[in-house]
Amino acid sequence: MTLRHEYDVLVIGSGAAGLTLALELADHMRVAVLSKGKLSEGSTYWAQGGVAAVLDDNDTVDAHVQDTLDAGGGLCHEDAVRQIVGDSKAAIGWLIDQGVPFTRDRHADGSESEDFHLTREGGHSHRRIIHAADATGAAIFNTLFAKAVAHPGIELLEDRVAVDLITSRKLGRDSQRCLGAYILNRQSGHVETFAARFTVLATGGASKVYLYTSNPDSASGDGIAMAWRAGCRVANMEFNQFHPTCLYHPTAKSFLVTEALRGEGALLKLPNGQRFMPRFDSRAELAPRDIVARAIDHEMKRLGLDCVYLDISHKPADFVREHFPTVYERCLSFGIDITREPIPVVPAAHYTCGGVMVDSAGQTDVASLYAIGETSFTGLHGANRMASNSLLECIVYGRSASRDILAKTDRVQMPSQLPDWDESQVTDSDEDVIISHNWDELRRFMWDYVGIVRTSKRLQRAKHRVDLLLGEIHEFYSNYRVTRDLLELRNLALVADLIICSAMQRRESRGLHYTLDYPEQLPSPEDTILQPPSVDD
Ligand code: FAD
Ligand code: SIN
Repeated sequence: MTLRHEYDVLVIGSGAAGLTLALELADHMRVAVLSKGKLSEGSTYWAQGGVAAVLDDNDTVDAHVQDTLDAGGGLCHEDAVRQIVGDSKAAIGWLIDQGVPFTRDRHADGSESEDFHLTREGGHSHRRIIHAADATGAAIFNTLFAKAVAHPGIELLEDRVAVDLITSRKLGRDSQRCLGAYILNRQSGHVETFAARFTVLATGGASKVYLYTSNPDSASGDGIAMAWRAGCRVANMEFNQFHPTCLYHPTAKSFLVTEALRGEGALLKLPNGQRFMPRFDSRAELAPRDIVARAIDHEMKRLGLDCVYLDISHKPADFVREHFPTVYERCLSFGIDITREPIPVVPAAHYTCGGVMVDSAGQTDVASLYAIGETSFTGLHGANRMASNSLLECIVYGRSASRDILAKTDRVQMPSQLPDWDESQVTDSDEDVIISHNWDELRRFMWDYVGIVRTSKRLQRAKHRVDLLLGEIHEFYSNYRVTRDLLELRNLALVADLIICSAMQRRESRGLHYTLDYPEQLPSPEDTILQPPSVDD
């Protein structure tokens, strides 16, 4: 007999999106928030630059909307962009009310001002990034987490890995509705049944599908894969964003060097000290990310380089240390003093622009199932996300989904009679090498064949390999007890397939999808929408 849990709302994911939603609901409903590792495990904790919002008197919603549309390569949904940007001031107000310690501006005499300091990043025509030095994500996570811990309506559960959603269709019932999820409790080793009136996927992105990434280990696309298996459409998966500047060092795992450095004047240089970005775009270092990452990739391939360099050493050392303490300290720990020398950098997979299709309140195709934050596709990012629009989307959708749930609460009952997880046909694996081998193989061919520059032939090779892996993983999954590694591999392989299929469908180059076989842009932009074959294969 497995354990059964009941909550009004089951939130899978404890990043900015999940915690925002939980805090907004907890006065009215019993909420569980799950993380598959530690609660701080998601990307939110590692966010550096800040949150984009219209806060300056000289800035306007129209300007932020236009910058987002320009960066998005013609694929943003303007209604979604307007909704999110229009809500940006209120979202920041909410974060400030929760107590997030954003950095204040300074007067000319060095004293602290009442106003918040706003920095700049690529694609933004104004200073509009509110931040907590260069550790904005940690400041947001720590604040929301402290509030959630103290709230009696919220139960925070770590080491719980969602395996799959439970839907009425999978149980052979008529209407399609989400009833909860099966959750692997890593402490007990058993899969438990979580029944919920509403289930929310706030599981972050899928950049771990690539060999080199700025993301933490949690970013394995679990929410996208679970939603797909439950019958939800996903969109625009070919647009995985590569951040131009991650630290290049043999022992530095996944360390991002924030774009705000370039916002404050840092320059990209070749090993001989020459700048190259002005040759690629009139906005130079502050062009949107797709352009900067592609330019770096081009220069590295042209000159056979291992990395390029990001240089802020011309700025006063005190300014650099005050604004970028995290980057300063981390680089120093690798022997690089950024106040005196340039930083070796390379692009790495950073953000999943596509995801689970949702409406303006985060509702997916399946009733009682929501997707918010990086796991969702709202239409905000188009073919290329503009810097610091992601955390904004997490907060805005965390709040709008909570309002939608509250409005529906009287109409949705607690599900009854959910079957337990069946472990009777499986045993413990004695061949974990298959999992680690397939992890490495998958992430390497995705990097080599489905990376910054693509071709039809490379995509076909990747498709061939992912099909083989999917078959092997399915067999393994059917025979052995589930573990976190196996579940993540299963989800990564599925998401890789969705990325490859989407990329094969797009016969043009747009935003983050660049292919040598179709270098031009088609006249009318269209989303790539994938429809799952049937509920649960
Ligand atoms: P996450 O914060 O990624 O949280 C995901 C949660 O889901 C985690 O708790 C994880 O454990 C849980 N989870 C996943 N799968 C499962 C499962 N199967 N079962 C149970 N739990 C699961 N964006 C900006 O706007 N500004 C920035 O300055 C910025 N800087 C960034 C810097 C870095 C290094 C990175 C990696 C990203 C940055 N981004 C930034 C992007 C932004 O941080 C993320 O898009 C955002 O934090 C995603 O939040 P989220 O709540 O959707 O998911
Ligand atoms: C950064 O600080 O460069 C990351 C910003 C983002 O991903 O939006």
